[in-house]
Amino acid sequence: MCGIVGYIGFREAYPIILKGLKRLEYRGYDSAGIALYDGENIKLSKTKGKVDDLERKIKSEISTKGSLGIGHTRWATHGVPNDINSHPHYSKSGDLVIIHNGIIENYESLKKELIQRGYSFTSDTDTEVLINLIEDIKKSENIKLGKAVQIALTQVVGAYAIAVFDKNKPNEIVVARLGSPLAIGVGDDEFFIASDASPFIEYTNNAIYLEDEEMAIVRRDKPIKIRKIKDDSLVNPYVQELQLNLEQIEKGGYDHFMLKEIHEQPHAIKDTYRGRLRVNEGIIKMAGVDDNIEKFLNAKRIIVVACGTSWHAGLVSEYIFENFARIPVEVEYASEFRYRNPIINENDVVIAISQSGETADTLAAIKLAKSRGAFVFGVCNVVGSTIARETDAGAYTHAGPEIGVASTKAFTTQITVLTLIALKLAKAKGTISNSDYHLTLGELELIPQKVETALGSDAHIKSIAHTYKDSKNCLYLGRGYNFPVALEGALKLKEISYIHAEGYPAAEMKHGPIALIDENMPIIVIATKKGHYDKIVSNIQEIKSRKGKIIGIVTEGDQTVKGLADHVIEVPDTLESLSPLLTTIPLQLLSYHIAVMLDKNVDQPRNLAKSVTVE
Ligand code: M6R
Repeated sequence: MCGIVGYIGFREAYPIILKGLKRLEYRGYDSAGIALYDGENIKLSKTKGKVDDLERKIKSEISTKGSLGIGHTRWATHGVPNDINSHPHYSKSGDLVIIHNGIIENYESLKKELIQRGYSFTSDTDTEVLINLIEDIKKSENIKLGKAVQIALTQVVGAYAIAVFDKNKPNEIVVARLGSPLAIGVGDDEFFIASDASPFIEYTNNAIYLEDEEMAIVRRDKPIKIRKIKDDSLVNPYVQELQLNLEQIEKGGYDHFMLKEIHEQPHAIKDTYRGRLRVNEGIIKMAGVDDNIEKFLNAKRIIVVACGTSWHAGLVSEYIFENFARIPVEVEYASEFRYRNPIINENDVVIAISQSGETADTLAAIKLAKSRGAFVFGVCNVVGSTIARETDAGAYTHAGPEIGVASTKAFTTQITVLTLIALKLAKAKGTISNSDYHLTLGELELIPQKVETALGSDAHIKSIAHTYKDSKNCLYLGRGYNFPVALEGALKLKEISYIHAEGYPAAEMKHGPIALIDENMPIIVIATKKGHYDKIVSNIQEIKSRKGKIIGIVTEGDQTVKGLADHVIEVPDTLESLSPLLTTIPLQLLSYHIAVMLDKNVDQPRNLAKSVTVE
């Protein structure tokens, strides 16, 4: 959570930092601020609200001149979102200034010590404590900023990506990371600092990703020096060439990133299986699985750890792995798993799923599983992310940047990767018949064009959204493979429209939720032809008898549900195991349109952030 940006070079820093903050707003957007060095002094402006609010405010407050600066967009942890708690934060003397993404857990004890030494604080943040700790060390030991930062960081417990500069030494920015991402864009005679590469992609394709417990001194006139914070050893900077382009991180004519990302799914799913799925040869190539095939084949069980939408993709994979590869699967909320002393050993394979690759709870679950000897496999979207690096092996989803806070293409591409793995294992274990194997491979290849067809119902879905936009509650029901889709549909609706929604296995309805049903309750029922179709038709009858409003997600040409439901949304026919890839699409569009009609901030819903790097 929180986005950080910095610049040192020959250009005006302000426009670069401002644009960078807009690109990083997905990481947090309750307040924003910028500090610039204007040649003599630090100029700082910050405000509660979004980067647009900062942009409106800043020019009336400070001169935006200067070619060194740092900026921050915040997702509050310590201290409510207000102007004072916004970053950057000054040190007591006003000489130093800092931006921080993360949490300093022992800030209260550090603060007490600093107060005893005469420091006072204006904000409620842990960050202001850190910058004063740095200043205190720098002054008392009469050392340079870099050294003071290093010593201070050995005293803090928690997570951070920080950038600090000193007005008395305005030719350097000191950066460090532990648990929160930090990239350095390397240009000619200029450097960029950011939580991800999006703020500097139009300036340079070369980036250094700091590893945990590393710090760097970034100077315009000198090569970057990276050190290990704890033992002071020097690290050779590894400059990576980025594959990202500007188009991928812009809206491309869509009103919102979420809508763009929903429409990108045919392409994204194709990119996920490209080079892996070889239908004609009847093979699936995945280096991360191929290189560790014995681990997978000998696994007594698979444990999936994830959060949010990624957890829902994990639930879909439980059906897929158990059905195809006959391996028992347990799907765990990473946040629960990490704290409940799970029974886990070297016979287990853990699959960690994360779009961002930075989710703190998932990362902690990975570390726990590794410490107990399990083989940990990552399914991530963001290349080079912490989870991608921390896992023993993995497979990227290749969905491209997902910027809308509500996950859409991440979900369908995660399911695609997990399906490929399950099919590959099933083939190797002989738990799938040849005909089913080839049929599923062929059908998977057709999914992108079927998703395209499903997207064609957009106008119809919009009209349904109009009918139900003022509902206070919503139920989502599905069975089998489509039960997790019901959960995901409900999550999408609540997170962007703030309408209360619940997902349930359809048969569970009669054990409680049925009491909620009356003529005002919209119920979205996933009722595609395969699987438990007859059972779900009975569930629909039960809803109808209680006057609930039924929106059926059905297979093209279905007449039975059409005769019962108030509305139906058709998706193309496919295998039951692949149906979540299609039934998800109308649920994403429905949530999107309702949120737009309610005038909600679709891409940046309240209280949320794209990557949750705090527990
Ligand atoms: O980056 P991750 O996949 O690890 O993120 C997990 C959740 O925070 C994420 O899926 C969240 O639930 C989304 N906002 C859902 O749309």
